[in-house]
Formats: sequence, structure tokens, C-alpha cells
Amino acid sequence: VKAAVFASGTGSNFQAMLEERDLACEIVLLVCDRPGAAVIEKAKQNRIPVYTFEPKRYATKEAYEKEILTVLQQAGISWIFLAGYMRIIGPCLLHAYQGKIVNIHPSLLPAFPGKDAIKQAFNTRAEKTGVTVHFIDEGIDTGPIIAQQVVDIYPSDTIDLLTKRIQKVEHQLYPSVIKQLIQNEGDL
Ligand code: GRF
Repeated sequence: VKAAVFASGTGSNFQAMLEERDLACEIVLLVCDRPGAAVIEKAKQNRIPVYTFEPKRYATKEAYEKEILTVLQQAGISWIFLAGYMRIIGPCLLHAYQGKIVNIHPSLLPAFPGKDAIKQAFNTRAEKTGVTVHFIDEGIDTGPIIAQQVVDIYPSDTIDLLTKRIQKVEHQLYPSVIKQLIQNEGDL
């Protein structure tokens, strides 16, 4: 089973997937919308092919997604894992990969969707937040939830400490959910 990761940033979740010995699928492509992103280096170090594009060079989302779709199909990819990909997936990819696009978000959705989810939770002085892995639909962080894990917020916390604690949970939860999804599919 072949999978692509879409990421725009540092790529710590991407790295965690690559380090998982038993992911039940093979990450064969990184798709990145920011040519300078640190995640690209991580792909190169691991000899994973990278498809980079600059959205502003295209007239529409549909135009760049059509190109991505061609690349995905040529590579025989059946799953897409979003890991800090800061764009909404449009109808072109959604229809081609229905039920096969998964995202990770650093809150207990539906609480704190969108950007700065960790900061949002921290600033409201919530007692807990967490991590959600969910399927993608047309909304922002609204698709069906697959798995969640709670992360406590302590009175002594700083945003940095909380962020690190959340990342640690992400790096364990995402690979394990991916593995389960692929194995369940194989059992059907
Ligand atoms: C993660 O917190 C993920 O939940 C969110 O974006 C962040 C990506 O971090 N969607 P990284 O690039 O994997 O380090």
C-alpha cells in the first residue's frame, strides 16, 4: 500500500511516520506547497521523492490539484496523510480520494479548529486539550473523527511545554492510527 504525505512546515509528524518500522504502508511521496519548508530536507535525507508546487502560480485550486492528482496516480498512491498541510483540500482531490485523506489536528475537535489550536486552548485556560486524527471533508477540521487522545494542561504550563507534550502524543498517535486504518482495510 502506497501513501503520500502532504506537509507545509517542519515535518515532525512526517518524520515520525518514517521512523515507524511497522506503518503497514509505504510513504512514497511528499507533497509540499512551500518550496522552502524544512520538511523537504527531511524527505531528501530519507530519499523520499518530493513534489513541490507554488499555489500562487496557478489560477485556481483546481488547476494545481489536477497536477497533484496526476502525480499521485502515476505513483500508485491510495492514501493521503496530511501533516501540517496548511491548505483546504478541494473537490478535485476529495472526490478522487474519498475516505482516503486523513489529517491530524492539535486539539480535541470540534474544540479549537483552524490555526493556532494549541494557543487557543492554552489561552482559554482549559484544563485539557489533545490531539485528533480525522478524515477530511470540505470543511476546516470538520471531518469524521477516527481517534482522539487527551493531553492535560497544567497550571504551571507554558505554551512551549504544552506544545512539546502535544507533539509527543501526535508522533505516537498518528503512525498507530495509520497502521490500523491500513490493516482494517486489508481485512475487509
Ligand atoms: C501539527 O501540530 C499538526 O497537528 C498540525 O500541524 C502541525 C504540523 O507539525 N496539523 P509538523 O510539521 O509535523 O512538525
